[in-house]
Amino acid sequence: MLKMYDHFNLRPQKARGVYVYSEDGKRYLDTFAGIGVLTFGHSYPELLRAIKNKMDKYMHISNYILDEDAEYVAKRLVEFTGKDGKVFFTNSGTESAEAALKAVKKCATKKRKKIIYFKNGFHGRTLGALSINGIERLRKPFGELLPSTVELSFNDVEEFNDYMDSHGEEVLAVFFEPIQGAGGIIPMDQEFSDVIKGNHERYKFILVSDEIQAGLGRTGKIYAYQHYGLDPDIIIVAKALGGGLPLGAAIFLKEAQNILKRGDHGSTFAPNPVSAAGARYVVDHIEKLLPYVREKGEYFVEEIKKINSNRVVDIRGKGLMIGIELDKSYTDLKQKAFERGLLLNIISNYKVIRLLPALIITHEEIDEIVRVLKELIC
Ligand SMILES: Cc1ncc(COP(=O)(O)O)c(C=O)c1O
Repeated sequence: MLKMYDHFNLRPQKARGVYVYSEDGKRYLDTFAGIGVLTFGHSYPELLRAIKNKMDKYMHISNYILDEDAEYVAKRLVEFTGKDGKVFFTNSGTESAEAALKAVKKCATKKRKKIIYFKNGFHGRTLGALSINGIERLRKPFGELLPSTVELSFNDVEEFNDYMDSHGEEVLAVFFEPIQGAGGIIPMDQEFSDVIKGNHERYKFILVSDEIQAGLGRTGKIYAYQHYGLDPDIIIVAKALGGGLPLGAAIFLKEAQNILKRGDHGSTFAPNPVSAAGARYVVDHIEKLLPYVREKGEYFVEEIKKINSNRVVDIRGKGLMIGIELDKSYTDLKQKAFERGLLLNIISNYKVIRLLPALIITHEEIDEIVRVLKELIC
């Protein structure tokens, strides 16, 4: 395998709840749930049952036969927005971003073709999604990408207003993450969101909310844009959608549901019917988790604050999407945590600990994470 990731020195034997067990009998607490995928933790029995039942019926039937679970999940994803819409399913987050980009590009005119994205935003790594990736070190090695993309600073009200004042009529779309994930867990400021909203109403660009990491309950609302009162035209999701199996979706709302026509896009595999059965379980059970996520998120942040170390310069996020920013890069922190039975995901050049635990995490499990962090950070 090409070495794209730094693997933990761990051969998994099984995984249950928030724990991964190694072949040599050790137990590790997973603080990032398969990078924000496992809402219900590892091997959640009811979810596994739903998936296994579907596999017993069929695994793949092609897009020429309609799967009932996929149809049901699409309906629920739209219902969560309170608007009218239609869904295109994909197999991953980057494919969801590509579907949204294709729809956006289809609306381009000679005059209106600029696609805005934000510095430190992350929408995936295929060439289209990479064109609107605000993490320069990921984008730069690949040279010229899609034309007419414009990078602006996230949360910079003045810059956004100035750009809109001079180019508003040329702006075709704005892609944003309500809380930037890979960029360092950076929530959008309410004031910035209000400015996007005002300009969206005025210039009628296509507003795309990337909810791949922050969506589907992680922040305490179904979609993270719902914290801000925004009115996106397209929402993209993936990660948590399939309950651990690969599935993504681009949700086209209001007029945006009429952009892509038969033949404009497609996928052999998506929506995989087994993933759709996992997704059915997810969409049927996330709403009741929302108060729990808000309460656990607040508890987690309060406990982290008690670490009271001057190595911690910021604690931020919403719900169970939490970033701990450290005063400098700590390249050995991940290994030290691993030796104490904690699986950490540290991003932004080893400076930000990204906590994306299973949404069913308990107080005791949070205490266990904080106890180890305290030992390591103090
Ligand atoms: C906000 C956001 N968008 C897009 C992606 C790309 O998703 P995938 O890795 O499934 O292609 C990610 C993945 O981390 C993400 O966090």
